[in-house]
Amino acid sequence: MAASPTASTKPPAAPNGTAEVFIELRDLHKRFGEQEILCGIDLKLYHGETLCIIGPSGEGKTVTMKHIIGLIRPDVGDVFVAGMHVNRLGEREMAPIRQKVSMLFQGAALFDRMTVEENVAFPLWESGVRDRKEIKRRVLEALEAVDLAEHLDKYPTSLSGGMRKRTGIARAIICRSECILYDEPNSGLDPIGSDIIDQMILRMQRRFGVTSIIVTHDMRSIFKIANRVAMLYRGKIHFLGTPDELRASPDPIVQNFINGRSDVTG
Ligand SMILES: Nc1ncnc2c1ncn2[C@@H]1O[C@H](COP(=O)(O)OP(=O)(O)O)[C@@H](O)[C@H]1O
Ligand SMILES: [Mg+2]
Repeated sequence: MAASPTASTKPPAAPNGTAEVFIELRDLHKRFGEQEILCGIDLKLYHGETLCIIGPSGEGKTVTMKHIIGLIRPDVGDVFVAGMHVNRLGEREMAPIRQKVSMLFQGAALFDRMTVEENVAFPLWESGVRDRKEIKRRVLEALEAVDLAEHLDKYPTSLSGGMRKRTGIARAIICRSECILYDEPNSGLDPIGSDIIDQMILRMQRRFGVTSIIVTHDMRSIFKIANRVAMLYRGKIHFLGTPDELRASPDPIVQNFINGRSDVTG
């Protein structure tokens, strides 16, 4: 297993000795009934970096992300976000976490009865912003960042899959979150749609300095966007390193996974 240093190609610089830790998962354990999903996850995410999480389906990638925003609590272990001890906070104390970290759920989870504009404005309403001019300005700014400003009156059902996901990204950035968790943002998209999402993710990082975690199966995306990659396997971080280190890893479990060979789960 390679323990990460830096990826030279993508801004900003990935972790080095001085980088500030933004999220830390410490010895995270989680079981559902008899099923032990997370068996001791240790992971640090540095300010401004993009980390991709890979791993077979059902390994707990989504569950791991939900721990970060306090939607799931660990049985054992700790979650820290920007120095806050997430799993010690009560539900009412989660607001600052949800302000700092937005999650783009698989499928974008838009409200079909609301327009794009209303969907994107929703988190602002929820956080108590009532000034309509301010809301409009920020919705437009968020939609412009994902190239959707012309589509604000449309309903989600009339958008393509990629546009729905971009609407979800606009909704995630409107509260000026410092961190976005993207759950399989490329799934179900053709290569061009997938590339557009990758460009959006890069733009969020470059323009707004957003720190991100992206669950993806798409190796091409990983090489475009990731500073580091973590592979979740059998409830642990099996590999952690740069995309180049991932590709060069001699580990057969890593190689089987990235080359799409089915014996990875054997
Ligand atoms: N709230 C829950 N209650 C019970 N089981 C769950 C819950 N959330 C996830 N699981 C189970 O945990 C496992 C990991 O799920 P998930 O994190 O969604 O996997 P993936 O790596 O594909 O994202 C799956 O077996 C799933 O059925
Ligand atoms: Mg998942």
